[in-house]
Amino acid sequence: MSHCEIGSQYRRCACIRRDVDIATTASWLISEPKQAETAIQNSQLDMVTLGREMLRDPYWPYHAAEELGVSLASDILPIQYALAV
Ligand SMILES: Cc1cc2nc3c(=O)[nH]c(=O)nc-3n(C[C@H](O)[C@H](O)[C@H](O)COP(=O)(O)O)c2cc1C
Repeated sequence: MSHCEIGSQYRRCACIRRDVDIATTASWLISEPKQAETAIQNSQLDMVTLGREMLRDPYWPYHAAEELGVSLASDILPIQYALAV
């Protein structure tokens, strides 16, 4: 499997979740909140793993929550960080 084929990772995650009933995750060039949310909502995986995107934007989960319309997105931050956004 090529690591660049995120679609095949999602499909593999979905098979493992279905057949073994354990939590799964995928990574590789995941950058868009909607992309991550769709994969989770479609029950393909339980969480996404971000590497380089988190280095580019350490507030990615907060920014993603805002972009996805989560009310009180700052609640996902430690209180001290929430006071700064
Ligand atoms: C700084 C950094 C540290 C990483 N540490 C780990 C690690 O400890 N274990 C692991 O399985 N993958 C690790 N990875 C790989 C990432 O989980 C991920 O698979 C890879 O970076 C591809 O995803 P990306 O396109 O979001 O960067 C790391 C990646 C980066 C950039």
